[in-house]
Amino acid sequence: MNILHITCSPRGSYSASTKLSEFIVERLRERAPRAQIIRRDLGLAPLPHADDAFVWAVLGRAAEIQSDAFALSDTLIEELESAACIVIGTPMHNFTVPSALKAWIDQVVRIRRTFQSTPDGKIGLLPDRPVMIAVASGGHYAGDAARQPDFLTPYLEAILATIGLRSVRFFPLQGLSRGAEVAAAAWAQAEQNVRDHAARLPLGAPVA
Ligand SMILES: Cc1cc2nc3c(=O)[nH]c(=O)nc-3n(C[C@H](O)[C@H](O)[C@H](O)COP(=O)(O)O)c2cc1C
Repeated sequence: MNILHITCSPRGSYSASTKLSEFIVERLRERAPRAQIIRRDLGLAPLPHADDAFVWAVLGRAAEIQSDAFALSDTLIEELESAACIVIGTPMHNFTVPSALKAWIDQVVRIRRTFQSTPDGKIGLLPDRPVMIAVASGGHYAGDAARQPDFLTPYLEAILATIGLRSVRFFPLQGLSRGAEVAAAAWAQAEQNVRDHAARLPLGAPVA
């Protein structure tokens, strides 16, 4: 089976969200030692924003519009389709996801390819599978200590559900700028949550 591992912090080896996502992947590999990792480091190798050619291709209806403009999008969607499990590491940037992750979303959330638009709304075309998301933030966005809005969690939930991915679980690392004690407690809690979740995850089922 494949695990798709996506990160988007620009901070390389200093990134908390990347580190926690690597911890998630390690726990999954304990369960599935022969798993292949497909790695997308969007911080190190950012994707282009949706450009003119891509937008024309998305808005077009003819089958022949399967043009070069979709080459990158097709590759990224095939990576998603081939993965039994998806791990994402993301910082919170200005209450939501960094633009590096948004650029990936714009490539993979594609009408007539990963979702269908119907009079009743958008219907996802990808088979569901587990998605585990590590989120690092300087402050708190959930719980009693929250002093800021959270547009990251509901956004990722809604956009992933749009393409069919509903089994999404978040692992927050909150308050990383609130001192060493708060950060250490956040790490301990997040790692425990990951261990518990990874131990229960049904792995190895073929992806349709
Ligand atoms: C441009 C920018 C915007 C940020 N916005 C927020 C924010 O809205 N809320 C928050 O709690 N922390 C915010 N932070 C702090 C980061 O979320 C925090 O440093 C986190 O640990 C970064 O994760 P990383 O180490 O994986 O890059 C921001 C940091 C940067 C650089």
